[in-house]
Amino acid sequence: MNPNKELIILKLGGSVITKKSEGKPEVDGENLKRLAKEIADAKKKKNFSLVIVHGAGPFGHVPAKRYGLDKGIMDEEQMKGFSITHQSMEKLNFQVVEALQRHMINAVAYQPSAVGILKNRRLIYFPTIVMEELISRDVVPVAYGDVLLDEETGVNILSGDHLVPYLADTLNANRVIMAADVPGIFDSDPKKNKNAKLIKEIDSRNISQIREIGTSMGTDVTGGMERKLNELLRLTELGIESEIVSAIEPGILRRTLLGERGLGTIIKTDP
Ligand code: IPE
Repeated sequence: MNPNKELIILKLGGSVITKKSEGKPEVDGENLKRLAKEIADAKKKKNFSLVIVHGAGPFGHVPAKRYGLDKGIMDEEQMKGFSITHQSMEKLNFQVVEALQRHMINAVAYQPSAVGILKNRRLIYFPTIVMEELISRDVVPVAYGDVLLDEETGVNILSGDHLVPYLADTLNANRVIMAADVPGIFDSDPKKNKNAKLIKEIDSRNISQIREIGTSMGTDVTGGMERKLNELLRLTELGIESEIVSAIEPGILRRTLLGERGLGTIIKTDP
């Protein structure tokens, strides 16, 4: 990889690319198309390397819950669920990659369950040699939350929110952007409280004040916003800053990719 070229790891939340609120495994075609265009526009303007990780929405959460995959393997029926859940994620990934290709992005599917191993839901093995080669050839690897073999529990869920910091650390990324269905992290749940205030910056000084963090809607086997924040806080210990921004408000992702800061919540490293 070219060490002088900025590397961005971008998560597209499952709730922004699928019709999560309806609970059906359907892509939100309009959002996906717009986000693909925003990414393409930013890439045309600025020469950065990009890895995309997308979430699952109902494509993953619904079958994973139905087969209890987040509890590990206890019976044979769950192995069927492993296969079904992975295939469902493949269908979503196919559509994400195609949407990006339509905007002239050299996107290539990157299957986490083919290369990674978990232990109690945390990655203990995920080689990135091929990913690094792809990045250096200006290809955009498109990975996703998936079901993986788990050394402790048989199989388990790899959340995109866990894969993103893992990749940011391993690939020594410059920026991490989480594009979500909310504009960032609020001081109380914005879906319940109209007066909830957006927190612009989070660091070790104000983290203890954040009591109630907005939860994501519907079936979610990977822990919503609270887990996301915990994963991102881990990154600050490695000196990598991250941002949660809205993928719903048009233009925010494009501007963030182009380098604008402060459009959502920044999870800052200590000064
Ligand atoms: C979950 O991935 C993967 C499966 C349930 C198989 P994520 O945790 O990244 O998905 P979203 O963003 O919450 O939809």
